[in-house]
Amino acid sequence: MTDIDMREAWNQTGPTYQAIHRIPTDSAHYGPFCPNESELNLLGDVRGKHILEVGCGGGQCSIAVARQGAIATGIDLSDAQIAFARDLAARHRVPVIFHQGSAESLPMIQDQSQDIVFSAYALHYVRDLDACLAEAARVLVTGGLFVCSLDHPFRDCFWDQAEDEDTPYPAYSYFQRGALEWTFAETGVRMCSYHRTVGDWVDALHRAGLRLERILEPEPVGVDESTWRESYPIENVRRVPQTIIFVARKGR
Ligand SMILES: C[S@@+](CC[C@H](N)C(=O)[O-])C[C@H]1O[C@@H](n2cnc3c(N)ncnc32)[C@H](O)[C@@H]1O
Repeated sequence: MTDIDMREAWNQTGPTYQAIHRIPTDSAHYGPFCPNESELNLLGDVRGKHILEVGCGGGQCSIAVARQGAIATGIDLSDAQIAFARDLAARHRVPVIFHQGSAESLPMIQDQSQDIVFSAYALHYVRDLDACLAEAARVLVTGGLFVCSLDHPFRDCFWDQAEDEDTPYPAYSYFQRGALEWTFAETGVRMCSYHRTVGDWVDALHRAGLRLERILEPEPVGVDESTWRESYPIENVRRVPQTIIFVARKGR
């Protein structure tokens, strides 16, 4: 169990995160070194679709789909991220609704009101994954699409280099589930994310009634130009999958 207050942690880190990473607003993105939605085309034609983005951060993906004609709503734990998102949407003159809240409980979203639930690089921060996926399934229409990207669980094993010859490499076991505490390099803020194996994710999706259609593990793109370059060990980026994307559909 961690005592890190993640709402506060992201309130402290959000402004720096936004300043460093100029996340696009013309296409939804899936994370560091990952092809974006304009290349992967996982959401399809979003015009007229109700799309809920969970862990929306600065709102760029919600804004991107709204610019393409979707009716977008974004939810994030961090007040600072939501404030940034509201300001960014106003500057783009797109009508996205943003709420502060946790992915584990979405009382502001009606049952079966969303065609797509989308999340980029956020759900590995969620402690109660079953509650989160149950909420995603509740708000989706039958047959609705669930698309989420996150840190690839295999990448977790390579976060720290072994500090001495006695420490095995990789330093973390793929099989050690649970809270992983680490420091956000650019702000010094302590963070906590949750390690689950790929199999754990597949099982959790099925428990929620979300039928898995695809798993994507994209090879890195744009490594040399990326703003994420400073915070990642680049040789690992080239050899170890950084992002995993799950595509699932709410069953009948
Ligand atoms: C790495 S950022 C990604 C944000 C955005 N999707 C992007 O791609 O820029 C992770 C986000 O998840 C949010 N977050 C963490 N735990 C959350 C939770 N339980 N519910 C909703 N959002 C959460 C954080 O506040 C942060 O904005």
